[in-house]
Amino acid sequence: MNSAAIAVFDSGLGGLSVVRHLRQLLPHENIVYFGDTARVPYGIKSRPTVAQFALETASFLLGYEPKLVVAACNTASALALDTLEAELPVPVIGVVAPGAAAAVRAARGRAIVVLGTEATISSGAYQAAVAALDPDQPVVAQPCPLFVPLVEEGRECDDPIVKLAVESYLGALRGRDIGVAVLGCTHYPLLRDAIAACLGPGVEVVDSGRETSLAVRSHLEAAGALSGSAAPGILRCFVSDNPARFQRVGSRFLGERIEHVEHVEAERYVNLARRATPTA
Ligand code: DGL
Repeated sequence: MNSAAIAVFDSGLGGLSVVRHLRQLLPHENIVYFGDTARVPYGIKSRPTVAQFALETASFLLGYEPKLVVAACNTASALALDTLEAELPVPVIGVVAPGAAAAVRAARGRAIVVLGTEATISSGAYQAAVAALDPDQPVVAQPCPLFVPLVEEGRECDDPIVKLAVESYLGALRGRDIGVAVLGCTHYPLLRDAIAACLGPGVEVVDSGRETSLAVRSHLEAAGALSGSAAPGILRCFVSDNPARFQRVGSRFLGERIEHVEHVEAERYVNLARRATPTA
């Protein structure tokens, strides 16, 4: 048993779509969440910048002595998981490997289409994770940069602009023997129905956030590190900017009211990892 919290970080509020599954699957776990709302989006930034931001954001959460860090952000997982694993003193679980593994299991000889931010797709991380499991598995990778702002603006699956954006990114994939679509971005689960409708009924949709939450549960079970508490887990949220917007927009991702959000001043997380590293 381990009563320490699970730390979850994201570039902003999208990671709450992962927390939603964590809270369903592990209702007795306490969760500390840091959304880097001052520096979102990560999905159009370079690898060194994302690695620096991800490390700072995750390092802030180390102050809460978590038993595990979840990189809920697909872009951070794709571009910075190796950095996080090398630098953090606790296990780190990213969303790419669990999502890729579920896609390979479901593909059964048909192609996998991975959807994500520009940075996630151009990093090749999902493609590499699939190839590591099955080198012969066909993968199509499609960036969908408009999806994040559309979701944050509150547009739903039946909105004509959403349908147009989905069609323009994915319409050409119909008829290409796609078996699985991977939602490789924290925001895409909110467009799941529109994506599924565009690709057609034979395509299985994999939510990397849900797969990651299952991986977290398996990890904690195997390590004997579940909380052991009978009380409902507490979710404590931190953001680097605009807690009111996080609370309002984020509740759609979380599927419940967000009770606790605290603003974190830049000096509490910027350069934190660098400061924590002793100089020679
Ligand atoms: N959280 C990011 C992801 O899952 C999407 C938003 C961003 O670009 O930062 O890739």
